[in-house]
Amino acid sequence: MCKLGHDVIGIDADASRIKVLAKGESPFFEPGLSALLQDGLSSGRLRFSTDISVVEGSGCHFLCVGTPQRAGHAAADTSDVDAAFEQLLPHTRPGDLIAGKSTVPVGTTTRLGNWARRASPGVVLAWNPEFLREGSAVHDTLEPERLVFGVPDGAAGALAVDRLEKVYAEPLAAEVPVVVTDYATAELVKVAANAFLATKISFINAVAQVCAAAGGDARHLTRALGYDSRIGRLHLQPGLGFGGGCLSKDIRAFSTRAQELGNADLPALLGEVDRINLRQRSRLIGLAVQMCGGSVAGRRIAALGAAFKPNTDDIRDSPALDVCIGLRDLGAEVVITDPKAIENARRAYPDLQFAVTAEEAAVDADLVLLLTDWPQFAAISPTALARLVRSPRVIDARDALDRPAWRAAGWYLRALTGDDRRTVAD
Ligand code: UDX
Repeated sequence: MCKLGHDVIGIDADASRIKVLAKGESPFFEPGLSALLQDGLSSGRLRFSTDISVVEGSGCHFLCVGTPQRAGHAAADTSDVDAAFEQLLPHTRPGDLIAGKSTVPVGTTTRLGNWARRASPGVVLAWNPEFLREGSAVHDTLEPERLVFGVPDGAAGALAVDRLEKVYAEPLAAEVPVVVTDYATAELVKVAANAFLATKISFINAVAQVCAAAGGDARHLTRALGYDSRIGRLHLQPGLGFGGGCLSKDIRAFSTRAQELGNADLPALLGEVDRINLRQRSRLIGLAVQMCGGSVAGRRIAALGAAFKPNTDDIRDSPALDVCIGLRDLGAEVVITDPKAIENARRAYPDLQFAVTAEEAAVDADLVLLLTDWPQFAAISPTALARLVRSPRVIDARDALDRPAWRAAGWYLRALTGDDRRTVAD
């Protein structure tokens, strides 16, 4: 927002987070974010505080708190949204805009709007979901593919649109498409987008299994599918499946909300998407057991990757870590490496073993697993790595390795995706 030309005050209840941000450091790894923070702070147009009263007079308030999966339930936990809203309202003035960015169950904005009308008459509420991806969040924020403004009817809606158009003047000048709609639609756009992306991934993972069974080549298949502009190549990468802080919890929350609204089709569809996705993790564990001769007990396994995807240190619902834990529970000695996520992984699972480099992790390994498709791992020399391991066996769970090169270096390579294994000894 500061980069887009605005004066910004960032508020968080977590004092340690605010302290780090105020120093121009990002509390998590996100490419390009620290430089933006430092630019903003040195321009004097960006400040951070834990004191919510400093937002008074701001005119435009963005609500960006998380909505994780509720403990022991599939629904979203919106308690942080409610808490932030409650704290914010006393510091707003008539004519202020509150714009929600959090991913919320459909109906939340109407509820909050009613609340605002009672507690702070004259304040206008809009829902303005974001679609940024971790790892490219800066780009996705500054150059979004679309903007969605969920606004109320009448004069309040016109005020909200006018205010949001001023906030996003720069991307709008670059002709970013904008959809102005009602609250419910704006809320649904976000969960529907994530549900579609999740469905695409589980679809290709299911198809890749059939392709494997038929002896086909999933790489060629996805390439050929991707050339169809109605299908597209993006988010069609088969492998270990999706994880992270969004797709899984959003499809569960969306299903729950659909069910509450009397719909059975969407929960049935997304339930299967979820199950296919989780099965990829157990399929990988099964393949690892098979490649270790029927048991991984006492075997040393090098795991390349802990983050849920490359270019992030986020380990929430990480398929990579789930596999590592599954193998550890079966008695394997798993050594994990990751370019950015080791610290977070160690904090969450202090009992796991970590190594700084892939080479260190691979020493004496009976099996190597490529779990997160960091470009650094794809660039590893298979010849050099082969010299370090006890047995040159690798599973390419993200379809990221140069298979002919690895095989030429003596590796027995398997994948989850129809891995042309006919060409190698099983
Ligand atoms: C997602 C949405 O993409 C984004 O629009 C939304 O705002 C937040 O949720 P993110 O969680 O950052 O973003 O990750 P995403 O890039 O969607 O990847 C999610 C998971 O799917 C990762 O674990 C990734 O490895 C996996 N994935 C992605 C695949 O398995 N195959 C693919 O083709 C793409």
